[in-house]
Amino acid sequence: MQPTEGIQLGQLREPGLTDDLEPAILPEPEAAEDAPRVPRAASDQVVVLDYGGQYSQLIARRVRECGVFSTLLPHHVGPEEVARLSPLGVILSGGPASVYADGAPRLDPRLLELGVPVLGICYGMQLLARELGGRVEGAEVGEFGRSQLTVRNTGRLLAGTPAEQTCWMSHRDTVFEPPPGFDALAASSASPVAAFESTQRAVYGIQFHPEVVHTPYGQQVLRNFLLDVCGCEGSWSARSVIDEQIERIRAQVGPDGRAICGLSGGVDSSVAALLVHQAIGDRLTCVFVDHGLMRKNEGEQVVAAFREDFHVPLVAVDAAERFLDKLRGVTDPETKRRIIGAEFIRVFEEEAAKLEDVDFLVQGTLYSDVIESGGGTGTATIKSHHNVGGLPEDLQFDLVEPLRSLFKDEVRAVGAELGLPERLVWRQPFPGPGLAIRIVGGEATKERLDILREADSILQDEIRKAGLYRDLWQSFCVLPDIRTVGVQGDARTYGNVIVIRAVTSDDAMTADWARLPYDLLEQIASRMINQIRPVGRVVLDITSKPPGTIEWE
Ligand code: XMP
Repeated sequence: MQPTEGIQLGQLREPGLTDDLEPAILPEPEAAEDAPRVPRAASDQVVVLDYGGQYSQLIARRVRECGVFSTLLPHHVGPEEVARLSPLGVILSGGPASVYADGAPRLDPRLLELGVPVLGICYGMQLLARELGGRVEGAEVGEFGRSQLTVRNTGRLLAGTPAEQTCWMSHRDTVFEPPPGFDALAASSASPVAAFESTQRAVYGIQFHPEVVHTPYGQQVLRNFLLDVCGCEGSWSARSVIDEQIERIRAQVGPDGRAICGLSGGVDSSVAALLVHQAIGDRLTCVFVDHGLMRKNEGEQVVAAFREDFHVPLVAVDAAERFLDKLRGVTDPETKRRIIGAEFIRVFEEEAAKLEDVDFLVQGTLYSDVIESGGGTGTATIKSHHNVGGLPEDLQFDLVEPLRSLFKDEVRAVGAELGLPERLVWRQPFPGPGLAIRIVGGEATKERLDILREADSILQDEIRKAGLYRDLWQSFCVLPDIRTVGVQGDARTYGNVIVIRAVTSDDAMTADWARLPYDLLEQIASRMINQIRPVGRVVLDITSKPPGTIEWE
């Protein structure tokens, strides 16, 4: 999914701050198509209840693409917790269980009494069917992948979609009969009831997955539910996020509070810093620690953007020598990580101590981090790497985390809206320990870092020129501590090897090696060998993850 500038996000609401919302009211029974919409709450939001499906986060993101703020909660939170957010609708996600299995997640019937429309997707639909007296059974054949959907009656949910359409399914249990009083809207070859609705009860279900790209009318179906059925406005946007966050940050930091933010050059800390700067101005100080392990010109670009373009008070610390001193003789990757992490904290603390009266620390924590650390689904895996730029918990600061409710693509949209340069908005992920863990099996010396930096800069340049930068999750070079024989001119050479690593991925948990065009690879290799004297050979890494990892160390 490519976020676009001006992307429609919605008004941001977080748990505990929604008590002032007006309660949503159900559509009147038998609401006609042209009946007035349900009264609107002050701010639109729906809750997505996660039944363990692999696409639950994606549902939450797709809802936000419709301009409606969404909160993902584990299915077991209970109706009180859902009601506390005053959502205008509830979506029940898919999940891997069979509704008949022992211990399968159940539907709390009180969710249907909250007075807001409910949409069940896949497992969510089967739960609704079972609860309300429909017939759900395990089918002989499952339905996995693309399916043909035949729409008999669009109803409200499928309005504006054609009679024949493709959709994406992934299920074995199937709804054979809708609950009494419900309209069956559509069928596929293996799903006699692939969509149903009762406008009277404000309960809707679809067997297919509207959130995946293989369901071309999926967004339309979600929009029908959110805008028509739930009466959401669809006005959540990058601009509204900014306005709301600025207000929140001001409320949290107060009229005199001071904040500090560690800038890494990545999009998260950059956007968090800009938001806080817009809220409290020069009472924010950013600290950029250049550990000498950055890529070519990276530090200068960050400093220029923040100091010169945005006029943010910025302390830039050139700590390269300190870090290189500590790394002398170190070849083990985990030791490198530990040393760099500890030194980073030391430098940051020293700088923080020079500033007076700082009570707040700005961090670019994202919604996916919140979910992955148990704040959301409880099903996601916790990332094994913690960012080296991370700070210890015993620092005496209150945290300001203005991105806690946002997915990565939304952070980019906010960054673009704030005027952050394209290079920073779209920067590929870069590990905290930087180039040190890309000098593999050897010590990160200044000389080696310089070779790697030059090679990396050629790679980035060619990949950008080929228009492929945004398509790749990461693209970088690795310098293994070996040398190989070659011949240049009439002389034998004994040079360094550069490995090209380029991968596609959605979340770094799995990745595939990118099929870069041969001509591009040739151009990259020949530039590296011609322009970087110590480089004698260039190779390409064609390992996916698993079994490989993205980084080599
Ligand atoms: P692997 O190599 O495990 O990497 O497939 C997954 C993602 O994590 C990044 N990575 C790190 N990030 N500190 C970081 O901040 C680290 O020590 C670290 N090691 C790996 C890697 O670049 C990829 O995006």
